[in-house]
Amino acid sequence: MRAHNIVVDGLEQGVLDLVHTRNVLFHLSGRQTALGRMVSALKPGGVLLVEEPDFSSRVADPRRGNAACSLFLKALRVASEAVGTDISYGRRLYADVCALGMIDVEAEGRARMGRGVTPDAEFWRLSYTQVRDRILGTGQFSPEEFDTFIALFDDPDFIWMGAVLMAVSGRRPLA
Ligand SMILES: C[S@@+](CC[C@H](N)C(=O)[O-])C[C@H]1O[C@@H](n2cnc3c(N)ncnc32)[C@H](O)[C@@H]1O
Repeated sequence: MRAHNIVVDGLEQGVLDLVHTRNVLFHLSGRQTALGRMVSALKPGGVLLVEEPDFSSRVADPRRGNAACSLFLKALRVASEAVGTDISYGRRLYADVCALGMIDVEAEGRARMGRGVTPDAEFWRLSYTQVRDRILGTGQFSPEEFDTFIALFDDPDFIWMGAVLMAVSGRRPLA
């Protein structure tokens, strides 16, 4: 194991049979550099598999009511603005991989359903709580509204469709 910042640190070139990452690039402002480094690290014929989310599918089951659905969407938008993630990167990953000269490029996405009072809900409750101050700092959420939103994750009747996790694979050409 080694500590490595894919945006800043160089990577050996042409040495790896397989590069796989998941849920990394959408966090990074230097994602093109990072993706280019991953491709350069592959041997000729080596395989790249990158999985990145696209949150276009992340909506609540409407049976919990319009207010909950709207709040869920608003929190996604405001949180991504507050922390600087690109929540629509999944749809652009395919073209980015093609543009790096990869061959046999394929892309397929899948989405999981989420529900309150599950480990998945706890993950999201903790994740949003960790960036609460930054979300409130946008001025688009009051503390009360944030509490109402967070309480959704403790409600077993709150169900949502998750982000599409887009998996794009390709091979580095031989020579
Ligand atoms: C949302 S987590 C995903 C963890 C895991 N890959 C998964 O899918 O469950 C984001 C990961 O990106 C890594 N990461 C963020 N910025 C990075 C950078 N500049 N260079 C390398 N890794 C980075 C973090 O260390 C963290 O492991």
